[in-house]
Amino acid sequence: MSGRFITFEGLDGSGKSTHLRFAADWLRERGLEVLETHEPGGSGLGQAIRGIFLDRRWAGMDGLVELLLVSASRRQHLIEVIEPALARGVWVLCDRFSDSTWAYQGAGRGVPERDIAMSDALATSGRRPDVTLLFDLPPAEARARGRSPKRMAESSIDRLDEEELAFYARVREGFRRRAEQEPHRFRLVDSSGRRSETQAQVEAVLQDLWTEASS
Ligand SMILES: Nc1ncnc2c1ncn2[C@@H]1O[C@H](COP(=O)(O)OP(=O)(O)O)[C@@H](O)[C@H]1O
Ligand SMILES: [Mg+2]
Repeated sequence: MSGRFITFEGLDGSGKSTHLRFAADWLRERGLEVLETHEPGGSGLGQAIRGIFLDRRWAGMDGLVELLLVSASRRQHLIEVIEPALARGVWVLCDRFSDSTWAYQGAGRGVPERDIAMSDALATSGRRPDVTLLFDLPPAEARARGRSPKRMAESSIDRLDEEELAFYARVREGFRRRAEQEPHRFRLVDSSGRRSETQAQVEAVLQDLWTEASS
């Protein structure tokens, strides 16, 4: 059986990590080999770039510089980790990929579409996810979830956490536009409800993929 490339997209606090772990367990229970990975990062070099990208010292970072950093991270991640895994038949579950670039650097920062298209083409050589789950909910709710006392104790505030809600509203719309443009690749998951309700939607997507792959 060949591998699948499945990406998890949405705002911080939208449930990507929670449901990526669930999906990985669900697929492993069915005997599949699964790789859990994330961007920016996903490789040693990628993690180093992520450190620069999220560092609050660089509050004035230009949008185009952001684009180049996440693209560099993506390139290394793709050639070192993702492509070899897919070639071995592994199911690759990736927390953020190209759609985050369109949403954050494009819709959020206002980097022109042609620049994003060019940079992303260089980074990915045209590699697209087979399926993308977009976890959608209002930015204020995502922020509240992302900033629960438990999470605040575990992780420090990063550069992007300091953006105002209007920025995240643009990012959310950017994600939704991507989903409208590629309805066959995207599965829109309403993440505004209880975790169990979101999980049921994720499981339905997994069931479809599993049925298709095993038939
Ligand atoms: N419907 C839901 N789906 C996922 N997480 C939820 C949901 N409702 C509340 N939560 C909480 O919101 C947080 C989501 O965080 P996380 O999965 O890390 O999001 P992300 O990786 O997108 O930043 C977790 O603390 C989780 O318990
Ligand atoms: Mg996460």
